Amino acid sequence: MSALTELYEKIAICPDCDLSRSRNRAVPGEGPENAEIVFVGEAPGFYEDQQGRPFVGPAGRLLEELLSSIGLRRDQVYIGNVIKCRPPENRDPLPKEIDACRKWLQRQIELIKPKVVVPLGRFSLAWFFPNESIGRMHGQARFRDGIYYMPMYHPAAALHAANMRRSIEEDFHKLPAVLEEARKGPKEEVPEPQQMRLF
Ligand code: URA
Repeated sequence: MSALTELYEKIAICPDCDLSRSRNRAVPGEGPENAEIVFVGEAPGFYEDQQGRPFVGPAGRLLEELLSSIGLRRDQVYIGNVIKCRPPENRDPLPKEIDACRKWLQRQIELIKPKVVVPLGRFSLAWFFPNESIGRMHGQARFRDGIYYMPMYHPAAALHAANMRRSIEEDFHKLPAVLEEARKGPKEEVPEPQQMRLF
C-alpha cells in the first residue's frame, strides 16, 4: 500500500473535529501520486460527501471544462481540499476545523511533491498565504520553497459570476507556461544583497 493510500485510510476515520460526526464520507482527494499539478479546493459539498470524491458536482464539471481548455483531463492532475469533510449546509469552514485538518493536506503535498499548486478560492489561498487576498493574487504565479503557486477563483464562485468566470478562464490559460517554467527545475535563489562593511 502506498503512503498516500495509507493516509486516505486514516482520513476516512479521522475523528479530530465535529464534522466527523455529520459526514457521510470523508473526501481525501484523488489523482496521480506523482502529479505535477495539485488543485486545492475548500471543502466537500453535497455530492462529494455522498461519493467520497472531490469536485464531482457542478463546480467539478466546470473544473473539468477548464482543464480540458488547456488540454488536461482530471485524471492527470491531483484534486484535493483544505478540509476533508463537508460542513453542514455547505457553510464556510471554521478556523478550528481547518486547523484540525491541516496535517492531512500538509502530508499530501509532502508525498506528492507537486511542481505547481493551484489554490482555488479564498480559503485555500489563506491556507498557503494567510496574508494574501484572492482578488489581488489570482492569476499570479509565486515561487516558494520549491513550488510554484498559481491561485485562482473558486470554480463554484465562477458558476454564478460572469466576471469571475472570465477571470478563471484567463488564469487557466496561464497555467501551461507556469508548469513549463516549473519543469525547468528549482529557481535560482536570489542572493541577499551583500552587506556593506563599514569601518
Ligand atoms: N468545492 C470544493 O471546494 N471542493 C469540492 O470538493 C467540491 C466543491
